[in-house]
Amino acid sequence: MEAFTHLFVFYTFLFSLLRTSISLDTVTPSQSLGDRGTLVSAGRQFQLGFFSPGNSKSRYVGIWYMISPETVVWVANRDAPLSDHSGVLKVTDDGVLVLLNSTNGTVWSSNTSTTPQNPVAKLLDTGNLVVKDGNDDNPDKFLWQSFDYPCNTLLPEMKLGWNLVTGLDRFLSSWKSTEDPAQGEFSTRIVPHGYPQWFDMEGTKIKARAGSWNGLGFTGRAVRPNTVFEYEFVLNEKEVYYGYKLLNKSVFSRVVLNPSGIVQRFVWMDRTQSWEPFFTSHANQCEIYALCGAYATCNINKSPVCACMEGFLPKSPEHWDSVDWSDGCVRRTPLECNGGDGFLKRTGVKLPDTFYSWYNKSMNLQECEGMCLKNCSCTAYASLDVRGGGSGCLLWFGSLIDTREFAEGGQDLYIRMAISELGHLDKNSHSSERKLVGIIVGSTLLVVGMIIVGMVSYIWKKKLRNQAMIKGSERKDCDNEGVKEDMELAILFDLTVIVNATDNFSNNKKLGEGGFGPVYKGTLPEGKDIAVKRLSKNSGQGLNELKNEVILIAKLQHRNLVKLLGCCIQENENMLIYEYMPNKSLDCFIFDQTKSKLLDWHKRINIIRGVAKGLLYLHEDSRLRIIHRDLKASNILLDNNMNPKISDFGVARSFGGDQIDSATNRIIGTYGYMSPEYAMHGQYSVKSDVFSFGVLILEIVSGKKNRGFCHPDNQLNLLGHAWKLWIEDKPIKLVDELVGDLCNISDVVRHIHVGLLCVQQRPEDRPNMSFVVQMLNSENLLSKPKQPGFFTDPQEADFSFSKFGTCSTNEITTTVFEGR
Ligand SMILES: *[C@@H]1O[C@H](CO)[C@@H](O)[C@H](O)[C@H]1NC(C)=O
Ligand SMILES: *[C@@H]1O[C@H](CO)[C@@H](O)[C@H](O)[C@H]1NC(C)=O
Ligand SMILES: *[C@@H]1O[C@H](CO)[C@@H](O)[C@H](O)[C@H]1NC(C)=O
Ligand SMILES: *[C@@H]1O[C@H](CO)[C@@H](O)[C@H](O)[C@H]1NC(C)=O
Ligand SMILES: *[C@@H]1O[C@H](CO)[C@@H](O)[C@H](O)[C@H]1NC(C)=O
Ligand SMILES: *[C@@H]1O[C@H](CO)[C@@H](O)[C@H](O)[C@H]1NC(C)=O
Repeated sequence: MEAFTHLFVFYTFLFSLLRTSISLDTVTPSQSLGDRGTLVSAGRQFQLGFFSPGNSKSRYVGIWYMISPETVVWVANRDAPLSDHSGVLKVTDDGVLVLLNSTNGTVWSSNTSTTPQNPVAKLLDTGNLVVKDGNDDNPDKFLWQSFDYPCNTLLPEMKLGWNLVTGLDRFLSSWKSTEDPAQGEFSTRIVPHGYPQWFDMEGTKIKARAGSWNGLGFTGRAVRPNTVFEYEFVLNEKEVYYGYKLLNKSVFSRVVLNPSGIVQRFVWMDRTQSWEPFFTSHANQCEIYALCGAYATCNINKSPVCACMEGFLPKSPEHWDSVDWSDGCVRRTPLECNGGDGFLKRTGVKLPDTFYSWYNKSMNLQECEGMCLKNCSCTAYASLDVRGGGSGCLLWFGSLIDTREFAEGGQDLYIRMAISELGHLDKNSHSSERKLVGIIVGSTLLVVGMIIVGMVSYIWKKKLRNQAMIKGSERKDCDNEGVKEDMELAILFDLTVIVNATDNFSNNKKLGEGGFGPVYKGTLPEGKDIAVKRLSKNSGQGLNELKNEVILIAKLQHRNLVKLLGCCIQENENMLIYEYMPNKSLDCFIFDQTKSKLLDWHKRINIIRGVAKGLLYLHEDSRLRIIHRDLKASNILLDNNMNPKISDFGVARSFGGDQIDSATNRIIGTYGYMSPEYAMHGQYSVKSDVFSFGVLILEIVSGKKNRGFCHPDNQLNLLGHAWKLWIEDKPIKLVDELVGDLCNISDVVRHIHVGLLCVQQRPEDRPNMSFVVQMLNSENLLSKPKQPGFFTDPQEADFSFSKFGTCSTNEITTTVFEGR
């Protein structure tokens, strides 16, 4: 219900004036419609009149639903508002609709080319405002109609697309904001070049591509079978358009392009008297146009989402590995063209961009293949219409871009390849013998691989053990709790070695107090510095957490993760031994008046990116796939060169490949960094780490702690404050004065932007880490963030989110409690 209301905020306007309705059913030159007048359609479905959206004082002439007057579907003078209530709508003797202001100046007008004898303006039951000749009996003959000039709404019976004869292009364009219907930057339209396609645009830039029509729907937008409406796509010499019709006239449905560029379809629910969302565009990363570049496919269920098509390799492997896929992929083997090529069949895909394509509705698939083979620049072919086993022919020329792989749905695409490539790629079409051979070869390789890995790790472990062997000390085994095999990778240190290294845990050697006990600096006999985390006996981190940490971290290797050297479990002591980080943790710098000056903007960016890469490795690239669950400034350690390393894996969890969401009764973490769904319901996922990472970005940029920060003027915490500055369009004010010179303001704003995207209330709205890394490294436009999820401490606000990010002032670092 809550989410539902949110979606509607955009579409809900309060009318500033109570209208005493003077309703007409037609307007003729002898009548006119003043500010309080309305025009109602015969079936009382739509109404036309003057309105002011939201708190705006401007007056507009618009059309809305009788059942839902706040839902305005069309605005006449969207770019030319009236400043007062003196407007008058008239039809001239020439059949032109005019909107006049107090001095009889024309604010807006329609136009017609022919002069009628008896002009009448009428609002039809479809929501179409038309001007016709009252003497003409043809009900479909209009001199002018509002359906030819859509605003942000596509109603049933309306056409989205082109009249190819007159060159009229009907497309939706967003409102500037919920209170300003002027033409915004977003549009959604049919582009008739090549085989026509439906694009979502931002200015002249393509944001997303619904794609080409395949007989059932658009190739990139699954069509949900339904009993409410039927879709239609018309393509001939005269017209190309998309439209839909209601199967039951008493049901309402509309498609809207909202001010953030999102296309949504709503259906009216009689029961709840509200609009229910039925479809929403841009729901995931793969919707971003050409995200993966040429000859690559996007699959939302894979990680990373982009992969080269079979037979293709990344064009620039370095960029590709750092999740910048825009360069795309290139052929492993060049095409031969004259008889040397064949086709690889891919199933379940979104067809590539058809901007450079050719089609013929009556050819069959064999003819299509022949046609493609004949022309050297043809790169792929497919059926034009998938109904009834497929018909027609669609050919591509040039690179194949913006394809996706769907788990279900999608269609067949035949990609041109050199025959030599097909030899070892074509799994679909040929014998099981080849498959068998493949399996045998594959498994032999696997076994050999495993043997090699086994040998290497044996040698490596042996080497490590030798290094750790301290003269005269006797090694004890970690395996007293039956965890031997789990801990095999970590080295076991002897207690006496640790005692000596830390001067018997002397106070001068103490580096700090972590959540689960003190941390000491130590020096091994050979001179190597170490950090020793001594788990206090009454700490929450018992043997379980220690085991957990050892097992997880020993298997991880990444330059942005702190390295675990070993453990020591002896005489009631449980200790973890790490590499020593001379610069301690991030919180010592960013929250300290003097030391924060040492972190200029460049260093801060380096830290943000390093942490992002470390987290990406944990979530997606490591063998185990790990959720950290306690990411915070004090868990980010800094090496000599201020490179960040994530530490403290005591409460981290490994999750299986397909398991993305878990719940726990034991909620462990740190207030200020915990996502709302985790703090409230114990639900954690990679997206709870993303939330903590977002908080961390905002802390690094602002030099303020989320928890503990309280803005003196507005009592907002850091997230609330950042959000306030963001909507007031002055995010730069968030930046710590101690950062020094900001060479690139837009870069700073970008980091704040990404931070806010990460702390959005709903986990599904937050980006995943690969997307975060990509956003931090590119200059692509980012989506608009929604309001952050605010969590206030239970002691203060009994789990209330409604206080809009007000502050908490008492300072606690780590808290453990049993939830539910
Ligand atoms: C506007 O036009 C109306 C009707 O033609 C006329 O009565 C009125 O005086 C005009 N107002 C002004 C300010 O010109
Ligand atoms: C009325 O519209 C005309 C033409 O657009 C404009 O010149 C004039 O200033 C407007 N008058 C008022 C009162 O807005
Ligand atoms: C009126 O028609 C002409 C040409 O048919 C067109 O260029 C112009 O934009 C139209 N004006 C309006 C307000 O629709
Ligand atoms: C149309 O919808 C109305 C309201 O939902 C329903 O009562 C009616 O039975 C439907 N008619 C048909 C033909 O499905
Ligand atoms: C389409 O294909 C049919 C059958 O092969 C052929 O007769 C027709 O001329 C083609 N049309 C065009 C425009 O190439
Ligand atoms: C191949 O197709 C392209 C694009 O339609 C066309 O320009 C070119 O003339 C064709 N070449 C041949 C040999 O048919």
